[in-house]
Amino acid sequence: MTKLQDTPHRYGPVSRALHWGMAALFALQFLSAALHWALPRENAWREAFWFYHADLGIALFLLVLLRGVWGLANINQRPSHTGLAGKAANAGHLAIYLLMIVVPALRLLASAGSNRGLSFLGLQIFPPQQPEIPWTQIAAQWHGELGWVLALLVLGHIAIAVGWHHLIKRDGSLQKMT
Ligand code: HEM
Ligand code: HEM
Repeated sequence: MTKLQDTPHRYGPVSRALHWGMAALFALQFLSAALHWALPRENAWREAFWFYHADLGIALFLLVLLRGVWGLANINQRPSHTGLAGKAANAGHLAIYLLMIVVPALRLLASAGSNRGLSFLGLQIFPPQQPEIPWTQIAAQWHGELGWVLALLVLGHIAIAVGWHHLIKRDGSLQKMT
C-alpha cells in the first residue's frame, strides 16, 4: 500500500493532493477576484466568475485547516530546509499559510456582522444582523487588501519553485511536490 505520510525526501500523496488541488482552486478564486476588481459592475463575465467566490472561499478555508493539521502531523518527517535560503523558504511558506487562514477568516467575520448574512452551499451559516455591526465591516476591506498580498506571495512562490529551482538551479526541488 502506498505510504500516505510525507517523508524527508518527498511530500506524500495526501500533501500533494492538497497542494495541487488547492492550487487549482486558488487560481479560480484569484480569477474571480481579478475580474471583480477589473470589470464594470454589469459585466456578464464578472457576474459569472463572482457567483462562486464566497462558496469556494469557505471551501478553501476548510481545506487549509485540514492541510494545516496534516502538515503539523507530518512536521518531523517532511522535507526540511537548511541554511539561510531554507529559513527564507520556511518563512515564505508560513506567511502563505497565515494568509490562507486570515484572508477568508476576515471575510467570514464581516459576513457574521453584516445585514446580509451568509450561506454556504445554500445552508445558512450567519443570519442577517439588524442593525449591522459596524466594526466587523472594517474586516471586509482588509479581506480584499490581504487577498492581493496573498496573490503576490503565491506568484513569488511559483517563480521561485519553477524559475529558480527547476529551470536555473535544476536541484530537483519541484520533484518533492510532484
Ligand atoms: C482564501 C479565500 C479567498 C481569497 C483569496 C479571496 C480574495 C479576494 C480578493 C482579492 C478580493 C478583492 C476583489 C476586488 O478588489 O474587487 C475579494 C473580495 C471579496 N470577497 Fe473574497 N476571497 C476569499 C474568500 C472569501 C470568502 C470566504 C468570502 C465570503 C464569506 C468572500 C467574499 C468576498 C466579497 C463579498 C468580496 C467583495 C468585497 C468585499 O465586500 O469585501 N471571499 N476576495
Ligand atoms: C504552479 C504553481 C505551484 C508550484 C509549481 C508550486 C511548487 C511548490 C513546491 C515545489 C513546493 C515544495 C517546496 C519545498 O518544500 O521545498 C511547494 C510547497 C508549498 N506550496 Fe506550492 N506551488 C504552486 C502553487 C501554490 C499555491 C497556489 C499555493 C497556495 C495558495 C502554494 C502553497 C505552498 C505551501 C504553503 C507550501 C509548503 C508545503 C505545504 O505545507 O504544503 N503553492 N510548492
